Amino acid sequence: MTGSIMKKPVVIDAKTVSVDLQPGVLRKDFVWGVSTSSYQIEGATKEDGRGLSIWDTYARQKGRIEHGDTADVACDHYHRYPEDIALMKGLGIGAYRFSVAWPRVLPRGRGAINEKGLDFYDRVIDGVLEAGIEPWLCLYHWDLPQALGDLGGWTNRDIAGWFADYAALISRRYGDRVKRFATFNEPCVAILFGYAMSWNAPGVSDRSSYLKAVHHLNLAHGGAVDVIRDLVPGASIGIVHNRQPVYPESETPENLHATALLDTHWNLIFTDPQCLAAYPPLAAADMEPYVQAGDMAKICRPIDWIGLNHYSPIYARAEPNSELGFAWGKSPDRTDHPDFLWPIHPDAFRETLMDTWTRYRLPVYVTENGCGDPDAPNAAGEVVDERRVNYLRAYIHAMGEAAKQGADVRGYFVWSLLDNFEWGAGFGNRFGLAYVNFETLKRTPKSSYFAYRDMIRRLR
Ligand code: FCB
Repeated sequence: MTGSIMKKPVVIDAKTVSVDLQPGVLRKDFVWGVSTSSYQIEGATKEDGRGLSIWDTYARQKGRIEHGDTADVACDHYHRYPEDIALMKGLGIGAYRFSVAWPRVLPRGRGAINEKGLDFYDRVIDGVLEAGIEPWLCLYHWDLPQALGDLGGWTNRDIAGWFADYAALISRRYGDRVKRFATFNEPCVAILFGYAMSWNAPGVSDRSSYLKAVHHLNLAHGGAVDVIRDLVPGASIGIVHNRQPVYPESETPENLHATALLDTHWNLIFTDPQCLAAYPPLAAADMEPYVQAGDMAKICRPIDWIGLNHYSPIYARAEPNSELGFAWGKSPDRTDHPDFLWPIHPDAFRETLMDTWTRYRLPVYVTENGCGDPDAPNAAGEVVDERRVNYLRAYIHAMGEAAKQGADVRGYFVWSLLDNFEWGAGFGNRFGLAYVNFETLKRTPKSSYFAYRDMIRRLR
């Protein structure tokens, strides 16, 4: 999914008039939801027997997280989940995508089970179901148990077995009430940023560690699909990928090659083996030393849907001294919306939906979309985030355009319900439909909360 023409991002501000999607374009059973992740909202990192995760370790290393923020308390969802479920109910959503913290249920990643950790997700799942919302459970949103990190984490081939055992525990415990499972959230971010660029935990930058980690995560995915399929009758299984068009920072031959490389490592190196049983051409030779006989068949197991997380296009430039030959390029014209974390480009979303559908021919659920902005309450205590409202309208409209062009898109989940611990950005960037005051932990629904509620009502 590379484009050779630089595209100017669209400017979305409070004055932008976005076009609303009209009812009748999407499927009748279209699923509207919100997404969260365990590490970003739960807090209670030292409570009720939870083990350490690689993010606890990473966040404590100097200079890793803006302002030295940690997720020790985060949104305190561990204690305040009933309030958060009430917020979901008020939105009128049909589905809630969340993740289980592996170290909360298996503090050392394998072996001894932490019943109190399992009880917590029982309470969440039951509460969500009582609110008339379907729980969508993701097994892995980056918080690997540190004890497994100490054994090499994703660079250790044994992790495929450890992950299968964890998937079995979760399937047995929740499979009576949960039918929607995602194996992973955004393998490309976890592994590329974690093992090649050191922007995420565990903070490694090493080519062969990265390549091994890619292959072992792919094996773990395939193994977990089989486990869930065996243990949960009626399970609907998918995986969540971050996919974005890649453009060159400028059109030199070197940058065009870097663009193809970034596309390979971002958009294809997990999805292609998982869905098409082959590594993409630009990575195949690099992966060969790690692939054993029979591996590709173990990785490419039938799944029911593909989850698409999408925010913006990305830009590449050649960087011969980097581990993989490319670096993140600058996007054109960022000056006109400097507060937004990423470029705004709804048409790139339409393009990505089309590409995901035509390449893999699996039903697509948009499992994350949204925007980060430094929101703040006004004098009246209201959080008027018109730019986010316009962003959501424009992106939902673009999704409708993809549906009209034939993409089999079946659901849309906003990232995120709450402002939360935004990884390396700490608490500095807010993505929530509800504002969180991180001193008092009070939640305040923003304008976008009410706008999304009204969009769902209108489009249902
Ligand atoms: C995605 C992550 C999610 C959140 C959003 C803003 O890449 O899956 O946890 O950080 O970006």
